[in-house]
Amino acid sequence: IILDPIALKQYVHNVKQEQKKVGFVPTMGALHEGHLTLIQEAQKKTDIVICSIFVNPTQFNDPKDLEKYPRPIEQDKALLNQIGCDVLFLPDVSAMYPPNEPEWSIDLGNLDRIWEGEHRPGHFQGVTQVVYKLFQLVQPDVAFFGQKDFQQVMVIQRMVEVKKLPVQLDIVPTKRNEYGLALSSRNTRLSPEGIEHAYALPRALNRIQQQFKSVDLQHLTPEAIQTIEQTSPLKVEYLAICEAKTLALATMIEDDKDYVVIAAAWIEGVRLIDNVILTAS
Ligand code: PAJ
Repeated sequence: IILDPIALKQYVHNVKQEQKKVGFVPTMGALHEGHLTLIQEAQKKTDIVICSIFVNPTQFNDPKDLEKYPRPIEQDKALLNQIGCDVLFLPDVSAMYPPNEPEWSIDLGNLDRIWEGEHRPGHFQGVTQVVYKLFQLVQPDVAFFGQKDFQQVMVIQRMVEVKKLPVQLDIVPTKRNEYGLALSSRNTRLSPEGIEHAYALPRALNRIQQQFKSVDLQHLTPEAIQTIEQTSPLKVEYLAICEAKTLALATMIEDDKDYVVIAAAWIEGVRLIDNVILTAS
């Protein structure tokens, strides 16, 4: 367990001198099977795996969400131990955000203004700030991110391009529970009934995936939203079929393009997000 950024840099320097490939899994903790699959993927593909746990204040647009974010650090440490993760980097806020540091932002284009960007102002700037800092410290050869946060992956890809960072990104499929609900640290804030209601979201996304190409595009999303809201107390913030490369709203389906259905919905004061890649089959 390394707390100090300078100590981490030194550690990585030594590891790199031994020609070892560094894999990195940034997280905000409250680890679940989704995070663990990222770490396992990293263990398969790299020599030394570093996982960070840092609840990054700059990416929380809602102060209450930051306050309520679960922080079961002893349980997290035990999980990382069990799975054999090499290093846990566990900095505090003052280590990651020293006072008087110059502010910077990155042009994320439309990604900052649509979907998650629209509904969570400042969120992606906060994500890029912290991931950039973490990349500078960890110098990973490969960094692992979950497809669960589809737009976040696009934002990180853009940051890597713009800043010309020498890191390869590896995207890991979403880990779900047996009823299809995407695992998320925030799920621990839901009651057992809330969890059951939340299944309405992946159910609707799967239905779209099944009907995509056979049902008129214009009908698919309004019907899904209606079904979710009539069969559960979920409130849909957005649910849309988009071009996978740009997240532009799909108005027609072209054979040579990939699509994704993305959604955010509220239940019991918790915001769920999910997505499913759409294929013709
Ligand atoms: P966090 O929500 O803790 O997620 C850490 C990583 O785990 C992200 O790449 C996320 O996409 C992935 N993940 C979460 N749930 C998953 C699931 N069910 N299946 C597969 N992967 C899953 O995302 C963040 O933290 C932060 O924004 C961070 C990138 C660490 C920057 O602060």
